[in-house]
Amino acid sequence: MDSEKNSLLKYSKYQYIIIGAGGHAKVILETLRLENKKIYGFFDDNNVKLQGLKYLGTIKELNKWTDKEKEKYKFIIAIGDCAVRKKIVEQLNLSSEQYGVAIHPSAILAESISIGPGTVIFANAVLNPDAVIEKHVIINTGCIVEHDCIIKSYVHLSPGVALAGGVRVGIGTQIGIGSQCIQTKKIGSWCMIGAGSTIVKDIPSHTLVYGTPAKIMKEGINIEF
Ligand SMILES: CC(C)(COP(=O)(O)OP(=O)(O)OC[C@H]1O[C@@H](n2cnc3c(N)ncnc32)[C@H](O)[C@@H]1OP(=O)(O)O)[C@@H](O)C(=O)NCCC(=O)NCCS
Repeated sequence: MDSEKNSLLKYSKYQYIIIGAGGHAKVILETLRLENKKIYGFFDDNNVKLQGLKYLGTIKELNKWTDKEKEKYKFIIAIGDCAVRKKIVEQLNLSSEQYGVAIHPSAILAESISIGPGTVIFANAVLNPDAVIEKHVIINTGCIVEHDCIIKSYVHLSPGVALAGGVRVGIGTQIGIGSQCIQTKKIGSWCMIGAGSTIVKDIPSHTLVYGTPAKIMKEGINIEF
């Protein structure tokens, strides 16, 4: 990734607001802190605790903020479930520029990758040249995204997922922990790929898939709202 852009992200004038307060939010918070980003607080529909961070209210309350109030902040939706993450983005009606990114300092990013707003990249992930990562994607701990992969919006790559060169993952698909995919395969949208799977063929959209080699276990699943 362009190093000037990278340093702008790191030393941004904005304060960050996290939406969500579960385990995934904890990892995002830790990542932002390690990047030395300023974090203002979090919204969640339940008044819970998040590592000493200031609770700001429910999502409905955020929607009452004026544009002027919102403009000092960058937001990150900290929800691992792909469909819920998308639904909250739709409810919030923020512009793309109002979403920040969180990139763990130990992640290795090639200069030529692109990363969309709202995306998070956790510790020890490796993203190789010309990978394209769209909006609100989760690249979890220790993932490998090889050269020329295309990861569409709202995808979640669970910890330790390895995608070989030129793999394409459709919108909203979750790939389970420790799974892998051989080069140039196309994985459809809104699929659930079980933990520890090995994908060796293209996978149609809306399927539940698992195993080594991965097999389609259920078709027509609807994990989107
Ligand atoms: C694939 C998955 C979604 C299926 O969930 P489910 O529909 O609730 O499935 P069940 O737990 O009822 O299991 C059904 C059967 O499939 C088997 N199975 C489930 N997941 C499997 C997997 N990943 N690989 C191989 N077999 C699996 C179970 O052993 C069970 O077999 P049995 O009928 O012979 O006992 C889930 O098991 C999974 O792998 N989720 C990914 C979790 C993950 O990676 N989380 C990371 C969060 S960051």
